[in-house]
Amino acid sequence: MPDRLLALIVGANRGLGLGLARELLGRGYDLIVTARDPAKATDLAALAAANPGRVQIERLDLNDIAQLDGFAPRVAGRVLDLLYLNAGVTGPAHKDGMKATIEETGALMFTNAVAPVRLARHLLGNVRDGSGVIAFMSSVMGSVADNTAGTSELYRASKAALNSMTRGFYHAGLGGKKITVLSLHPGWVRTDMGGPSAAVGIEESVAGLVDVIEREKGSQKHRFLDYRGAEIAW
Ligand SMILES: NC(=O)c1ccc[n+]([C@@H]2O[C@H](COP(=O)([O-])OP(=O)(O)OC[C@H]3O[C@@H](n4cnc5c(N)ncnc54)[C@H](OP(=O)(O)O)[C@@H]3O)[C@@H](O)[C@H]2O)c1
Repeated sequence: MPDRLLALIVGANRGLGLGLARELLGRGYDLIVTARDPAKATDLAALAAANPGRVQIERLDLNDIAQLDGFAPRVAGRVLDLLYLNAGVTGPAHKDGMKATIEETGALMFTNAVAPVRLARHLLGNVRDGSGVIAFMSSVMGSVADNTAGTSELYRASKAALNSMTRGFYHAGLGGKKITVLSLHPGWVRTDMGGPSAAVGIEESVAGLVDVIEREKGSQKHRFLDYRGAEIAW
């Protein structure tokens, strides 16, 4: 067991990412957190000020290829107990494949599916062998088996693509490294994305997600689980 646990959360400026930062700090993890614009990340700055030496804030926009592919040296030599790829977007407001442009589709797929797995590949060398966890913020909306509603088809497709790329990364991208890979559904949560009518509060969701991570670490499996630990069909 390492002296101090270290987690890197991608997309921690607000919503679930900020909630995860607070929860993990409370459980004794030191943090590296990313924000697209650290100068505007006032909640993260307050967390860092309240926890001296425990929160490092880094700039990262997943859709900026130079930032994405140039990120790894900024955490060189740091051993991560948890890498949490949280950042994600809803996509175009019309949510409709019949109206989607190539640019909208490309941006949604890149942010939600391609970039998180690409960053995980870049940072694989930092993740602790044996007990390390890479968690991707998926969604039950990414379940093909569960899709009987057909709503939000572009967002659903982006999370299904994330799950598919994550599975490929788990089977063919770990290079013999023994780590646990999780595709996690946070519940329908009251954030900017989830909206005010969502069923679950941020604190409940992130506490459940971290419980699931603590339970699964060391399993070295790839599972699709919700914040209460229930298995979701692919
Ligand atoms: N809320 C729900 O009900 C729900 C349900 C299932 C899954 N999820 C997933 O949970 C994750 C977090 O969602 P949330 O509800 O907390 O959403 P949110 O409040 O809209 O926050 C999204 C976060 O992602 C960051 N982000 C977006 N695009 C980015 C990019 N190109 N590069 C870097 N960071 C980027 C945002 O940064 P800025 O602050 O700079 O914009 C923000 O920190 C997402 O992956 C989402 O799909 C949410």
